[in-house]
Amino acid sequence: MICNKIPVQDEQQLTHYHQTITDSLKRLQTDVIDVMMIHWPVKDESLLRANLEALRQEQQRGTIRAVGVSNFATATLEIAREIGLIVVANEFAYNLVSRAMEETVLPYCRKQQIGVLAYMPLMQGLLTGKFASLDDLPPNRRRTIHFDSRYQPLARHGGSGAEKELTALLRTMADIKTNSGIEPAVQAIAWLTAQPGVTSVIAGCRTLDQLQANADAAETELPEALLNKLNQASRPILSQLSGQLDLWQLNDKSRIW
Ligand SMILES: NC(=O)c1ccc[n+]([C@@H]2O[C@H](COP(=O)([O-])OP(=O)(O)OC[C@H]3O[C@@H](n4cnc5c(N)ncnc54)[C@H](OP(=O)(O)O)[C@@H]3O)[C@@H](O)[C@H]2O)c1
Repeated sequence: MICNKIPVQDEQQLTHYHQTITDSLKRLQTDVIDVMMIHWPVKDESLLRANLEALRQEQQRGTIRAVGVSNFATATLEIAREIGLIVVANEFAYNLVSRAMEETVLPYCRKQQIGVLAYMPLMQGLLTGKFASLDDLPPNRRRTIHFDSRYQPLARHGGSGAEKELTALLRTMADIKTNSGIEPAVQAIAWLTAQPGVTSVIAGCRTLDQLQANADAAETELPEALLNKLNQASRPILSQLSGQLDLWQLNDKSRIW
């Protein structure tokens, strides 16, 4: 199956949308893309509607089989529903330290039967247990709202982070590994696949070993007691981050709506 993403196109780009899609088909050496997703919504509602309409037209022309979105919360998903467009998938940041979608987005997707593709399941390696402390993470992996922006030159969110809570979760995951032998990366991915509504997990892999380990993790079922422990240990992070959906921007700068 081929899934692809397209950024929101501006008015001028919309005039040659079909060409953009056919260029993509050529590059992928295929006649049809199974799921074409809008990468991020924009605040301009009429432009967003026009882009959703453009995708619908491509679907009618047969260049794409189904329409998907990424980083859409309930208001933007509702726009698609209002215009009668069936959205089959929403690719969204979801992992043990980024659980904000559980409040409204995940229940909405379950109700509307929209598949959820959880991205960044390992929080860019943080949840694998290979970093002894948060300070060992490369600076470009400390840009998200989890880290106090005062001390992160690459962060642009301005928030105070949740580092104490992150450290506590990592300690719990290390304890689980000591007691059960289950690697933190396996705990993180298997916890995600156990969440109702999650239909797929998109893990980045730099090596074949990581690919194999992550594929195995997706087949792993964690005992209920471990799932509960991870739920409990990760909840303080969710509270500290006050349900923010955009991992890189806060409050009125959030791009997700
Ligand atoms: N739709 C969107 O807006 C959006 C945004 C971001 C990402 N995504 C998608 O989500 C995918 C995954 O995100 P991501 O790669 O940023 O984060 P991730 O999947 O949470 O982390 C992947 C990184 O963790 C390390 N890793 C992976 N498996 C490991 C293992 N078994 N043991 C130890 N380390 C392991 C690797 O980096 P090192 O080996 O270098 O440590 C790898 O690059 C991306 O490829 C992208 O397709 C989508």
